[in-house]
Amino acid sequence: MPWDELKPRKFVAFEKELDGISKQTMEDHYKLYEGYAKKANECRRRLNEFDYSEIEGNQVFSELRAVSIDYTFALLGYKNHDLYFGHLGGEGGQPDGRFAEIVDDEFNGVDKWFDAVKKAASAARGWVMVGYDLNDGSIFNYIMDTQNLWAVYNMVPVLAIDVYEHAYVRDFGATPDGRKQYVEAFFRNLDWDHVNRQLGQAEAAKEGADRTGLQEEHPVGA
Ligand SMILES: [Fe+2]
Repeated sequence: MPWDELKPRKFVAFEKELDGISKQTMEDHYKLYEGYAKKANECRRRLNEFDYSEIEGNQVFSELRAVSIDYTFALLGYKNHDLYFGHLGGEGGQPDGRFAEIVDDEFNGVDKWFDAVKKAASAARGWVMVGYDLNDGSIFNYIMDTQNLWAVYNMVPVLAIDVYEHAYVRDFGATPDGRKQYVEAFFRNLDWDHVNRQLGQAEAAKEGADRTGLQEEHPVGA
């Protein structure tokens, strides 16, 4: 399917009163998301329009390099916020369903996963991305310093915590303690059904790949 322009979506979270995260924060935040969609589209259009027989491919600086890299920043700015806004507006509480089962096994208890993900939120500069690995079916809390660093291939995001200051400075202040309070508020508003839907899609993708043999193990050198 050829590329088509990204379009900012509407989210349930914007029709609700969130617990601790103000309407103003959400509205300002949405403008950033719209900006990421616009810039991702602009980068992708330019990348499609370059004359690759003529354009310079310099590793120190080149227009191709700059637009290609900034494209990933803008695109993941769109995608990360799409998940973030998508799973706000819920009732919070404890994880349930398949997500709870997997983290219970992976982290030796749901409470231990909560401790780990909250500590990751203090250690990250941009995002914490809780991702499902399509290769081995495990869950991992990725610490990301920007929208596009340091996620890995074949990881499907199922839960995304935006810890850039713009997500919490208005409501909680730009301090480590303010961030902790914001992360608590984030979990009070999380829709676990949405997280489990994301996880369901990821597990289905893994099952599909397993069935077609794409995950089949081959002996070294075979
Ligand atoms: Fe953000």
